[in-house]
Amino acid sequence: MSDFLTDSAAKMEWKPEAKCGMARAGHLHTRHGTVPTPTFMPVGTAGTVKGMMMDSVRSTGAGIVLGNTYHLMLRPTADRVQKLGGLHKMMDWSGPILTDSGGFQVMSLGALRKIDEDGVTFRSHIDGSKHRLSPEISTDIQFKLDATISMAFDECPALPATPEVLRKSMEMSMRWAARSREAFTQREGYGQFGIVQGGTEKDLRAYSAKALTDIGFEGYAIGGLAVGEGQELMFSTLDFTTPMLPEDKARYLMGVGTPDDLLGAVMRGVDMFDCVMPSRAGRTARAYTERGTLNLRNARFADDTRPITPEDDSPIAGRYTRAYLHHLFRANEMLGPMLLTWHNLAYYQRLMRKIRAAIVDGSLPELAQSLRADWAKGDW
Ligand code: GUN
Repeated sequence: MSDFLTDSAAKMEWKPEAKCGMARAGHLHTRHGTVPTPTFMPVGTAGTVKGMMMDSVRSTGAGIVLGNTYHLMLRPTADRVQKLGGLHKMMDWSGPILTDSGGFQVMSLGALRKIDEDGVTFRSHIDGSKHRLSPEISTDIQFKLDATISMAFDECPALPATPEVLRKSMEMSMRWAARSREAFTQREGYGQFGIVQGGTEKDLRAYSAKALTDIGFEGYAIGGLAVGEGQELMFSTLDFTTPMLPEDKARYLMGVGTPDDLLGAVMRGVDMFDCVMPSRAGRTARAYTERGTLNLRNARFADDTRPITPEDDSPIAGRYTRAYLHHLFRANEMLGPMLLTWHNLAYYQRLMRKIRAAIVDGSLPELAQSLRADWAKGDW
């Protein structure tokens, strides 16, 4: 059944294959298979990549998907997922799954949450019921979900924030990271990543990176970015942060981003990404193409008999016209979001394959130039 390379009882390891500038190509070996990096992880928040059958997700070339502690603990609950055989079995995904730890999602609840040194109390966005997350609870939930990669429990302050607020929050996240590691059950081929915080402040990022590497994780995430600071500040923060992380471990930039963000971050040494952008855009009629994005609800597509893109490895471009997709969205047919999510996820995977191939053959700067030039051209 599995089409993933499964290394029997292998350790979780990231192995380098090639470098081009700061960009790295490698492989992440896990209990549930091997993933070529750099990689983009489609977001499967509630145990589903919305509107997609997992065969379709697989067909795009995705090697690893993401799930969310916050959503799954509320519904169907971690105990139920465990009884259903874990997240892989429940959602028919035999490859690796990374779960976010919940802190970031709770943060977006605003007034519905209260943070203290031990953890966070919050009210469910579904029914207002009261719940608690802490490093120990989050780590236990991720164990029950059977996450291949668990994330340490952290707090991510909204930017802009004063250096004092950022420092206090980051220091607490580092104490939480130590407690998350303590609570983590080691299993062959499974791992846990620490999350570097500290906003856009170099000294805070340095403190955080050292605190996490002293604890020791199977990989390191960069959190607290793409929260309103803009691409330039995000890139300058990556410029000093990725060199603070171990060369021999995977680096994951959380919640990022646009195709141009992914390209820029890979060129600054990042290996893994997740973002709702391609799937959310697909549900709202926005198509990613080699020439930027198209809004298929726009009236100009009503009689456009061309495919979305001339690239022949989109799963839908050769089969459907822009006019038909426009019709599906205007008629609120569920096939519209399904097809466009599929198309967008395939675009993101194709982009990562091109970037990876260019790292391996040493032509990433040339690829970056031609990708950016095409994005700027606009529709065909
Ligand atoms: N997703 C995007 N950013 C973050 C972050 O800083 N922390 C966590 N846990 N998840 C994220």
